[in-house]
Amino acid sequence: MCGIFGYMGKSNAPYIIHQGLKRLEYRGYDSWGISTIEKGNIVTTKDTGHIPESIKLKTNPTTVGIGHTRWATHGGVTITNAHPHYSTDRSFVLAQNGIVENYTELKAYLEKLGYIFDTQVDTEVIVKLVEHELKTTKTLREALIKAFKQLEGRNTVILLDSKSGQILAIRNGSPLILGVKEKDIYLASDPLAFNQYCRDIVEINNGEMIEIKDGKYKLFDIKKDKYINRKPREEKLLEIDIDKEKYEHYMIKEIVEQQHTILKATEYTQKQLQPFIKRLKETENIYTIGAGTAGFSADQIAYYLRKIGKKNAISIKSYETESYLENISPNDTVIAISQSGETADTLEAVEILKERGVYIASIINMPGSTLSRLSNSYFMSNAGSEICVASTKVFTSQISFGYLLSKTLVGEYTDAKRELRTISNNLEDFFSKKTFKQIENISKVLKEKEHFFVLGKGQNFHIAQEGALKIKEISYKHFEGFAAGELKHGVIALIEEGTPVLSIVSNDKNVKDLISATQEVKARGALTIGIGDKQDTDCFDYFIEVAKSNDLKAISNVIPFQLISYYLAKELGNNIDKPRNLAKSVTVK
Ligand code: F6R
Repeated sequence: MCGIFGYMGKSNAPYIIHQGLKRLEYRGYDSWGISTIEKGNIVTTKDTGHIPESIKLKTNPTTVGIGHTRWATHGGVTITNAHPHYSTDRSFVLAQNGIVENYTELKAYLEKLGYIFDTQVDTEVIVKLVEHELKTTKTLREALIKAFKQLEGRNTVILLDSKSGQILAIRNGSPLILGVKEKDIYLASDPLAFNQYCRDIVEINNGEMIEIKDGKYKLFDIKKDKYINRKPREEKLLEIDIDKEKYEHYMIKEIVEQQHTILKATEYTQKQLQPFIKRLKETENIYTIGAGTAGFSADQIAYYLRKIGKKNAISIKSYETESYLENISPNDTVIAISQSGETADTLEAVEILKERGVYIASIINMPGSTLSRLSNSYFMSNAGSEICVASTKVFTSQISFGYLLSKTLVGEYTDAKRELRTISNNLEDFFSKKTFKQIENISKVLKEKEHFFVLGKGQNFHIAQEGALKIKEISYKHFEGFAAGELKHGVIALIEEGTPVLSIVSNDKNVKDLISATQEVKARGALTIGIGDKQDTDCFDYFIEVAKSNDLKAISNVIPFQLISYYLAKELGNNIDKPRNLAKSVTVK
């Protein structure tokens, strides 16, 4: 969350920074700010809301500056709270990505020393701390290092100094990467922000500081107190596919792309999978971890590894790994799942497990991400850039790969590939005008309701949860996904006349249970919607028949939820690609 950008070079810094921030906007879009140095002074333009397509900056063309796009943690969304933040003498500005976890203590300490705070953001604590350290250090870089070492939490900061004309940045946890092209130097939370200009990157690790001055950069290890010589290397970065083509929103484009992306995610040959399959065969337990949609992916992949792969696979939410950590041993294998490869909760769990000698494999969509670097091995989802904040195509890519892995474990690689091709072909027919119209019409009915329940079982249990998450993210309606078996144990108390209940029904051994559950809610007045394989029953008020599949029903069944989410949000006039309060990459805890 929050995007950081810095630039020093031959081009017009305000323009480059604005373009970079637009590309980082997926990390947060509450407010933004750009600071540049003009005639020795720092000039800043800030505003709340989305970064406009073109902006009228207070600054003239200049060659150095920093920028920030914010996802609020401490303090409301106001221009005052927007980064970068000035030092008291206005000689430097600082922007941050992360959370200063000891913010309260540090603020109290600084207030006692007489510092006065103008904002509610934790970043101001860093600024004041640097000012304070500057009283007893010779240089600003020394003061920054001393201040930075007092911060708790995963923080990355960038500072622009008008006196020396330099940019300083330190990374701990929250991502930061350097791009170099001759005399042009870029610094950003994600290389996507500058990969239209340069491909040569320098990785910055935790505890490293970057100093950019006079068109040159220097890397410094703040723990070992010494300079590091790290040459740029060319990285195959993900292209941002900013073309919406014929679609009105990225979300619908990305939903339709799934017929192709599930195949791209599973292009691995048996030979390529072999070393990891060998490891999985020998491993005692497999733990899958992830958060949010990637967490449901982790659940579904663990389900496939148990049900198909015959392994003891346990899914854990990244932010709830603590009670498991002691029991995970080097004889086990952890599979971390993450679109961005930068999710703080997932990285923190992986860092701890790695230290304990546990083998980490990951499924990621972002080349060069922190998770890929931390992992012993990784598999790319190859879904291309997913721009809509709500994840759709990456979710199905992840579970397709998990399915391929599970089938390969039991010698059924070819069968899995056949099934993936079948579902891909059937999805092509499913994405028809007729389907879109039907879901649009159902969404018009749902628009009037507030609370919704989604029921699933077995292969569809986690799909009920992911389906509900997808709809609440974009429509802001209260959807809850449950195991159908849970209904009678409490949830049914919430069913009243007109309550919409969406049941996922597949032609599998659970179908009877799902139909009984639907009958039970219908008897209590629920509005019933079936999603799945066609059923010979009159218990559904509406029925969405999904793309045909054999044992990959999770994919066919999740897609109608993505479409309901889309059409419902459209009906409600919500911002589909950038829903409120969310960010695509959750780099804070
Ligand atoms: C929901 C969504 C989030 C992410 C979660 C983890 O649509 O996208 O729930 O899945 O924040 O992100 P990654 O996959 O980047 O680790």
